[in-house]
Amino acid sequence: MSYVVKDLSEINIGLMGLGIVGVGVARRLLSDKSQISSKTGRGLNLARVMVRDINKPRDIQISPDIITAEPEDIISDPSIDIIVEVIGGIDPAKSLIVKALTQGKHVVTANKEVVAKYGPELHRVAMDNHVNLLYEASVCGAIPVLSVLTNPLLSNTFRNVRGIINGTSNYILTDMAYNNAHFDIALKEAQSLGYAESDPTNDVDSFDAVYKLSILASLAFRCRVSPDDVYREGIRELKSQDFQYARELGYAIKCLAVADRKGDAVQARVYPALIPIDNMIAKVDGVYNAVEVSGDLCGQVLLHGLGAGREPTASAVLGDVIQIASQMSKDGLRSQFDYIENTYNVIPIDDLETRYYIRLVVTDTAGVLAQIAKILGSKGISIASVLQKDTFPEEQKAELVITTHPAYEASVQKALSEVNELDVVSDISNIIRIEG
Ligand SMILES: NC(=O)c1ccc[n+]([C@@H]2O[C@H](COP(=O)([O-])OP(=O)(O)OC[C@H]3O[C@@H](n4cnc5c(N)ncnc54)[C@H](OP(=O)(O)O)[C@@H]3O)[C@@H](O)[C@H]2O)c1
Repeated sequence: MSYVVKDLSEINIGLMGLGIVGVGVARRLLSDKSQISSKTGRGLNLARVMVRDINKPRDIQISPDIITAEPEDIISDPSIDIIVEVIGGIDPAKSLIVKALTQGKHVVTANKEVVAKYGPELHRVAMDNHVNLLYEASVCGAIPVLSVLTNPLLSNTFRNVRGIINGTSNYILTDMAYNNAHFDIALKEAQSLGYAESDPTNDVDSFDAVYKLSILASLAFRCRVSPDDVYREGIRELKSQDFQYARELGYAIKCLAVADRKGDAVQARVYPALIPIDNMIAKVDGVYNAVEVSGDLCGQVLLHGLGAGREPTASAVLGDVIQIASQMSKDGLRSQFDYIENTYNVIPIDDLETRYYIRLVVTDTAGVLAQIAKILGSKGISIASVLQKDTFPEEQKAELVITTHPAYEASVQKALSEVNELDVVSDISNIIRIEG
């Protein structure tokens, strides 16, 4: 593979998007030129900036000469070498990335949705046009997890990748755990601090984490894991007593993203999970993210840091820009984030084998536990521990919290639908998987 190498003293950057991340990228490009050029050997010049509304007030001063609302001003400008896409979403981001790559521009994006859904297609266009497509910022902000998977740890065969990869939901869960906050209150606080958007669906219903896990698992396992292959649950159903009971049992509750490889099959899932309190992942609080990878040579490696926000995300975007810039004069530049198109079998969630936490409201009378245990036992599920809480004495009802030994998801779901039919069971309030 070879490139037409332009003898430029400066590398021209076209920035698409000047929102949270775009401003962070632009600020560093404008304020720290000499530091960056000392690292790349060539200066980086912010040549053009595209926004939706050129009249919108901004918290950065950009020369009106370089700002535009017309994508073609960037894509068709032959002097622009690298395009940074920080618009977000699919439309028009995807078509702009394709056009930019087709025009022979290298592209750096922070857009997890577009990479998770269209990674192989975009990568093919990049390959066909001998340009690079990098997207470190799309997963976990400042944490260089994609680079670590694809460079220093590349010799490993990975068995498992898991982590806390959405800072907003982790902030909410931390507030619920430490301050006994209700979900709605914790969400409002996250919104008032700017950690959650006014429509929080992407974060609290785990779509954002699904996109990121699909990218992580694809790179770790060298196969295509589509967002559709990832089982998803959000955090809305968690109640303050779940945190209290989890703590009594020695666990924290985190929204965990997990991908396991078993032979030629992959299982990927994002859901709230109980994690032993002494596990490092259980200690990741607030807006922090952590990703743990398990490889055959490296063992367990844990990366921890800020997973979102203006500066941390700009740090990852600019790392990719500098990487491309410093390789641009070399022949044979190859994307380290090449999106492999092998497909593996997907293991359905029904085949998951793990331990379970089950919280139920039952009539406070003798023999209830025996009836429940009989049904669980008939499906091969054995009880590990039981907590009984005299929660509703006036109604003569109690809460039972049962944890199980490892059991299959399908068996647990079947057993619980039978348990739900028992007269003595008023409600199966929550089922949370326990991850070791
Ligand atoms: N925010 C974070 O902490 C974070 C972290 C990691 C990754 N990311 C990813 O980074 C990307 C950008 O996020 P952000 O938070 O910076 O978004 P944002 O604050 O909403 O900014 C989006 C920018 O794109 C521009 N834009 C939107 N639609 C456009 C269109 N049709 N044509 C031209 N310009 C358009 C907007 O222009 P106007 O300003 O004129 O409206 C705005 O400047 C997303 O893919 C996101 O997932 C964000």
